[in-house]
Amino acid sequence: MASDTEQIRGLGHSVRRVEDDRFIRGKGTYVDDVKLPGMLHMAILRSPYAHAKINGIDASRAQALDGVVAVVTGELMAQHNLAWMPTPSYDTQAVLATDKVRFQGQEVAAVIAEDPYVAKDALELIDVDYEPLEPIVTPQRALEPDAPVIRTDKEGKTDNHIYDWETGDREATDRAFAEADKVVSLDTFYPRCHPSPLETCGCVADVNPATGQATIWMTSQAPHAIRTVFALVAGLPEEKIRIISPDIGGGFGNKVPVYPGYVVATAASLLLGRPVKWIEERTENLISTGFARDFHMHGELALKADGTMTGLRVSLLADEGAFHADAQPSKFKVGLFGIVSGSYDLPAAHVAATGAYTNKAPGGVAYRCSFRVTEASYLIERLVQNAAYELGIDPAELRKKNFVPKDRFPYESATGFVYDSGDYQAAMDLALEKIGYAELRKEQEEARAQGKLYGIGLASFTEVVGAGPHHQYDILGLAMNDGAELRIHPTGKAILKISVQTQGQGHETTFAQIVAEEIGIQPEDIKVMHGDTDNTPYGLGTYASRSTPVSGAATAMVTRRVREKAMKIAAHLLEVSEEDVEFHAGTFSVRGAPDRTKTIQDVALAAYTNFPDGMEPGLEAVYYYDPPNLTFPFGTYAVAVEVDPDTGVWEVRRMVAVDDCGVRINPMIVEGQIHGGLTEGYGIAAMELITFDEDGNCIGANFTDYLLPTAVETPRFELGETVTPSPHHPIGAKGVGESATVGSPAAYVNAVIDALRPLGVTNIDMPLTSAKVWQAIQDAKALA
Ligand code: CDP
Repeated sequence: MASDTEQIRGLGHSVRRVEDDRFIRGKGTYVDDVKLPGMLHMAILRSPYAHAKINGIDASRAQALDGVVAVVTGELMAQHNLAWMPTPSYDTQAVLATDKVRFQGQEVAAVIAEDPYVAKDALELIDVDYEPLEPIVTPQRALEPDAPVIRTDKEGKTDNHIYDWETGDREATDRAFAEADKVVSLDTFYPRCHPSPLETCGCVADVNPATGQATIWMTSQAPHAIRTVFALVAGLPEEKIRIISPDIGGGFGNKVPVYPGYVVATAASLLLGRPVKWIEERTENLISTGFARDFHMHGELALKADGTMTGLRVSLLADEGAFHADAQPSKFKVGLFGIVSGSYDLPAAHVAATGAYTNKAPGGVAYRCSFRVTEASYLIERLVQNAAYELGIDPAELRKKNFVPKDRFPYESATGFVYDSGDYQAAMDLALEKIGYAELRKEQEEARAQGKLYGIGLASFTEVVGAGPHHQYDILGLAMNDGAELRIHPTGKAILKISVQTQGQGHETTFAQIVAEEIGIQPEDIKVMHGDTDNTPYGLGTYASRSTPVSGAATAMVTRRVREKAMKIAAHLLEVSEEDVEFHAGTFSVRGAPDRTKTIQDVALAAYTNFPDGMEPGLEAVYYYDPPNLTFPFGTYAVAVEVDPDTGVWEVRRMVAVDDCGVRINPMIVEGQIHGGLTEGYGIAAMELITFDEDGNCIGANFTDYLLPTAVETPRFELGETVTPSPHHPIGAKGVGESATVGSPAAYVNAVIDALRPLGVTNIDMPLTSAKVWQAIQDAKALA
């Protein structure tokens, strides 16, 4: 039997990625590869100011330039009721500025021209009369009573406050703190960073003037949801909108929102009757599209003297930028930050959050993260390490003492998440064993004795992915469910259509493996289609590692639905009753007579040629999956670093990552996902930063200033795994795409802080550039 399964290569097989054939050969089709007859090109004029009144826009010189077809301004968009659009957080966002600009890089006007270079040249000929206003570059300043109001467009708005939100039990938490032997606190800032996918955002909008059909090729992680939003915003009939997301060169959350460029290009195509292409430049991507993080956090942990954690209190201030545009489930103002108690059995917790407008780009996207779980995981893992120091307990021991024990699952956290499964101790034990923790601590002592700065950092994160059950999880009211449609052709080959949208994660391979496992058709005989709203079932898209938990489950379920029918056809072919048919790895056999068999290919042919009387012919089904719960992947990351005391440069000596994402569909792809996430986590911890000067100028607007780790800086990773299947997912899988980005920043930072511990350093906010580390060393020495 095992050999059959070997042949089928369903779950647990490192099947090579089918999509790589076209990528490696340069045969992928990205949005910028789409070229249509008569296509025009769009370039966007962006604000040089962070905050300024617009007294007027004169586009006449641009309009007169040879090759320019139209200049679109906010005024023109307003005539069509499109100057503003709704955001996923129930705010409004300017499509093209009319009254004011509210961040540097905001969209002010667009030029549509016969060629992209003319469009760009014409931008310089647009004269905008700006009247600069005081820019607000921190949420703290934004909330001061005398701060100028950014959102003057909102009637009656007299301040920059957006929301207050809380979760958990305040009184129980206060009690825990009142009774605590020890309270450990940490103020930390998780800075603004950017998903920076290699392919920037863009679209080709083609509205056919004769039929009214709008076809929009778009770099979107959520084509179906975007279509619905377009229909609602533009008042176009939904069936006349087709969103095609072809190959996507990385998304990481950056390609979830609707950007003004998409809206203007579509409106321009509608007005001009010609296709319009807009492809963003790198700087535009970094300064104006969805940023990530930007959370100022204060955390307090209450403990007993023996190290038992009894309470967690968090207050945070979110810098939301000029428009509140976080893409997250409607009911969660700060996403799933509420998972902040992490892997620990904390009887009481309370989180209070405030959001403020500032003169910065909007977005708050879930950069490879389940809606703010990254910030939450970072905070608790940093707090735990500092608590260990203050109590004089080894950080591994303190974690071990407080982990939710494996026999307590399903476990309800103090903020109401019901963790489906976990075995935190097993993951940590493996990580410690792989890195040789006890030995490393000895080496550290020796290194310290020689004056070296050597540190070991841990992070035992719990993730929360697979949004989600429809009662709680929706985006703009749309339930966060996903679909899958499977058709088996007469020749026994199949096509699977899924609602999620791959941006490089390998869905065309792994989703075929799920079908293979369930019905026994080999992955290479299954074509996976996605990213076309006219040809795939409805669903909310790919972000927050929800593809496997939601659409992956839909795929298993739809295949089971098809298999049920296949059983009936097999019974008919084998001339036995359905109860007498057994199925294993693509073969239907008669119970008790294993020689009498039919393959899935025989059955597929019969579904179109020789099916029982009264049965509907064909072999296909569709399934929409409403997950009963989220899934909770977890892991322990262990990092060893050495810091140069003279320069502040730190180098990762070892990085061990043990992940548990339940059943692994394709171990090779899972490892690839983890490698990518660990690299991004390292980038965030060490170098990536979008920041602003006092005038609100964005620093980090190109890859010279916004540093990404290359192969040279990226540490070597040693991976390990434990497998704790999700009890409610049809194949026991949990998501994995973002685990490493969520879990690793705290591990890297904990290692550096551990190295500096003899000097008394307890915190450095990310990114831990050598300059900042050096400064922390100098400050600590000055205090000593
Ligand atoms: O939503 P997204 O695809 O970004 O994240 P995911 O569901 O965590 O999946 C990332 C990739 O890893 C996909 O190709 C999955 O099918 C694969 N995966 C897997 O092979 N086994 C798992 N347990 C989880 C994901």
